[in-house]
Amino acid sequence: MDKISVLDKTFVPFIGHDELMGCIDSVAERINKDFEGATDVPIVLCILNGAIMFTGELMQRLNFPCQLVSTKMTSYVGTSTTGEVQQTMPLTASVKGRRVIIAEDIIDTGLTIRAMKKILEDEGATEVRVCTMLFKPEAYRTGEHIDYVGKEIANRFIIGFGLDYNELGRNLRDIYVLEDSTFR
Ligand code: IMP
Ligand code: MG
Repeated sequence: MDKISVLDKTFVPFIGHDELMGCIDSVAERINKDFEGATDVPIVLCILNGAIMFTGELMQRLNFPCQLVSTKMTSYVGTSTTGEVQQTMPLTASVKGRRVIIAEDIIDTGLTIRAMKKILEDEGATEVRVCTMLFKPEAYRTGEHIDYVGKEIANRFIIGFGLDYNELGRNLRDIYVLEDSTFR
């Protein structure tokens, strides 16, 4: 893998596709264990747009009946969070009386997850679990419990496999990190 340019920035290889697949295997295994024998059809909630690739891979590995629901949450502009989270597309189905597994691409400050959990509780979900492909512990400041983490990473800006820089880079198969990440 080589360096790539996206708009005004240069990114270098960070997590390869195969390693990502291994992280998703391990997360799916833990979820399958916890939901073994489920008869209630839990909801897998994809937080668009970032989690679209992760959710697709994760769902292929889940071995209990589950339903895919999506919503869209927005907080990032450029390479950092605005600190304000907005639900920019409503839930595509009701979560009332349902168990929900949130599928997130990455948890950074935790503000998105906190806002998402509040919405799901207000909408009557009976249980909410949080699953994320990547987690930046150094940036985390809300303290919400995270049930399933694929991989912890340093507090650096990344793109690829669903993650974007101003909407570009989502289609990359591997994850890339901003070169000389001194953006914070
Ligand atoms: P949080 O609300 O700060 O936890 O941020 C969560 C959302 O911000 C994620 O779902 C991503 O969409 C976005 N995000 C956080 N870190 C990155 C990154 O390094 N690259 C691209 N998007 C990111
Ligand atoms: Mg996201």
